Amino acid sequence: MKTFIKAIPKAELHLHIEGTLEPEMMMAMGKRNSVPLPYPDAASVRKAYAFDDLQSFLDIYYNATSVLLHEQDFYDLTTAYLKKAAAQNVRHAEIFFDPQTHTSREGIAFSTVTKGIHRALQDGEKQFGITTKLFLCILRHLSEKEGLETLEQALDYKNIIAGIGLDSSELGNPPNKFKELYKRANKEGFLTVAHAGEEGHADYIWQALNTLHVARIDHGVRCMEDEKLVEKLVASKVPLTVCPLSNVKLHIFPSMKKHNLKKMLDRGLLVTVNSDDPAYFGGYINENYMAVQQALNLDRQDIIQFAVNSFNASFLPQETRQRYL
Ligand code: HPA
Ligand code: ZN
Repeated sequence: MKTFIKAIPKAELHLHIEGTLEPEMMMAMGKRNSVPLPYPDAASVRKAYAFDDLQSFLDIYYNATSVLLHEQDFYDLTTAYLKKAAAQNVRHAEIFFDPQTHTSREGIAFSTVTKGIHRALQDGEKQFGITTKLFLCILRHLSEKEGLETLEQALDYKNIIAGIGLDSSELGNPPNKFKELYKRANKEGFLTVAHAGEEGHADYIWQALNTLHVARIDHGVRCMEDEKLVEKLVASKVPLTVCPLSNVKLHIFPSMKKHNLKKMLDRGLLVTVNSDDPAYFGGYINENYMAVQQALNLDRQDIIQFAVNSFNASFLPQETRQRYL
């Protein structure tokens, strides 16, 4: 099974580039940029990665980004991910970045972040043969006004930024808070997605669909608490980008055996398997596939279905998807 999972071509649809900052790279960048870190070495960083919930993870995750300062840092981070993904037979990746996390720090421009990532994506396509789409995620714990200012900056980068997403602290920051921002993003022709139904209840998924008009839901595992919502998601084939290792690390499910992914698949939902923040949650896409395969006793057909779903749930044009199906 391990060989089979590794060999099958896959698309990664839920990946935060800041979440690929491995402890070794964090230490090295801290050193080269003279940014002090509260850890003596990479092993102690890893030891600190025990999270109680989404917020306790986000606090550590946003702190770690302090080592990313220059365009080259964003380039190196992105290149390291693409190399890893290619080795795992990821053929297409739709990648999130959080510009507000960086521009809120002294002296870091939107263009520094965006150009560093973009240059790596271009070089990576040539070097590793991976196609990509870049998604700007709006931080939902900040105001809609601040989000709109960030969206405004993205308008000059429409050739680089394919879409807009919504991440960070979900509870207390429902999709409805970003109605105007998504209205603008959709009008400007951006693809739109949103994290919903990770910690937030099913109503957050309804809001993402009906108020924000997103084409895809990130996580969405709590949809199973609302039968009407499941019916709607199945009928409209709205994809859900599920991240199994993330969900267990953040205690959305008490264990992988309790994860509802197989139930979602059997219910006919367009579910995919993704890695979210692999440097923090213990694995990239193949480790996620392996973890669910073992815990939920999945057979080859299930694995094939996830891989097929990953291309069908992507924003690749139909004729390109066809190559992988
Ligand atoms: N949820 C919300 N915000 C995030 C996540 C997540 O899983 N990963 C990185 N930012
Ligand atoms: Zn995420």
